[in-house]
Amino acid sequence: MRAPLLLLFLMLISLCSSAIVYSSEEGVLKINKKRFYLKGASWFGFETGVSTVHGLWAVDYKFIVNFLANNKFNAVRLPFSLDMVLKDPTPTSINFGGCSGDNQCNLDLKGLRSLEVLDKIINYMGTKGIVVLLDLHSFEPDAFGSNGLWYDSSHSEALVIQGWRKLADRYRNTWNVFAIDVKNEPFQGTWNTGNLNTDFNKASERIGEAIINDTNWLVFVEGTAVRLSKPGRVVYSPHTYGPNVYNQPYFSDASFPSNMPRIWDKHFGFIRIFRDSAIVTGEWGGSTQGKNGIWLNAYANYLKTNDITDNFVWCVNPNSGDTGGLLLDDWRTPDSNKLAILAKLVENPTNVLDAIKESHLETNDQ
Ligand SMILES: *[C@@H]1O[C@H](CO)[C@@H](O)[C@H](O)[C@H]1NC(C)=O
Repeated sequence: MRAPLLLLFLMLISLCSSAIVYSSEEGVLKINKKRFYLKGASWFGFETGVSTVHGLWAVDYKFIVNFLANNKFNAVRLPFSLDMVLKDPTPTSINFGGCSGDNQCNLDLKGLRSLEVLDKIINYMGTKGIVVLLDLHSFEPDAFGSNGLWYDSSHSEALVIQGWRKLADRYRNTWNVFAIDVKNEPFQGTWNTGNLNTDFNKASERIGEAIINDTNWLVFVEGTAVRLSKPGRVVYSPHTYGPNVYNQPYFSDASFPSNMPRIWDKHFGFIRIFRDSAIVTGEWGGSTQGKNGIWLNAYANYLKTNDITDNFVWCVNPNSGDTGGLLLDDWRTPDSNKLAILAKLVENPTNVLDAIKESHLETNDQ
């Protein structure tokens, strides 16, 4: 090829490769076809009455994002309610310029509606190499405990898809929005029974298809047996908790915690043998003390032993009654014991910004 043509060719390749490809294949997550070691946390609030992430009454949103980035978190799961997306209210409980020790806090959020606040937070996370999982946690604010399916009497499946489509239209080109969590904890759901009103695997396929046709997003499903028309898009995302959240009988077994790996295998670990969709723990966490602490360490060991360490710990927020947070009640002091367990679990989280730069360089070198 003549030199000017070659140059043009290289420029075209590098333009094409500027799209970041997230995938779930060979049993693991990948970013631009290389292993993506994900270290994540949930930061809740958009699914509650204040219609924004919690903690902004105490600190600047950038403080929390920086705290996460400094501790090598490269992913955040943001729970929201369908009503928040559809109605886009004005958020409350944001302190503008009056946080203790920070008179500049959250000033750039002043006057914004919920989705505009979400834009700001997602964009700032992008500058820190943090990717975002959007999680449909409930239909109405503060209602997660009563929404056991992917629809209810006042929110049809069509309305749910409309909400997801609104987010797809808004964030399709936002590079660090990488996935949706179809519906948080569908505890009244069934899998592959043929009952269209309760089969969550089928609902996940319908909702997933409505999103992947014009986004490059992954589809996190809190369940199994899901097939999408595009390869590499399904992520299986179990939630599991220790005795402080719900005291399962097997926590009282004489062999606890060595009885746990067999139980986790049976619940979701078996999926690894298919070497297909990745398993990413979507929620787990809680106190590092007492029996819950024993459970926490046992689960971390299980994930490590089985090379399925990608996880979103619940949660950043200290105001989660049964788990506590990564931050203590002042929203400033880290829970260093918890951070130590997570640092040991994902020792080398992918530096997303470096991963993107590297794949550009490689393409340009060819
Ligand atoms: C993708 O599917 C959705 C839902 O069916 C539809 O509204 C949208 O127009 C489709 N987009 C494209 C590009 O076909």
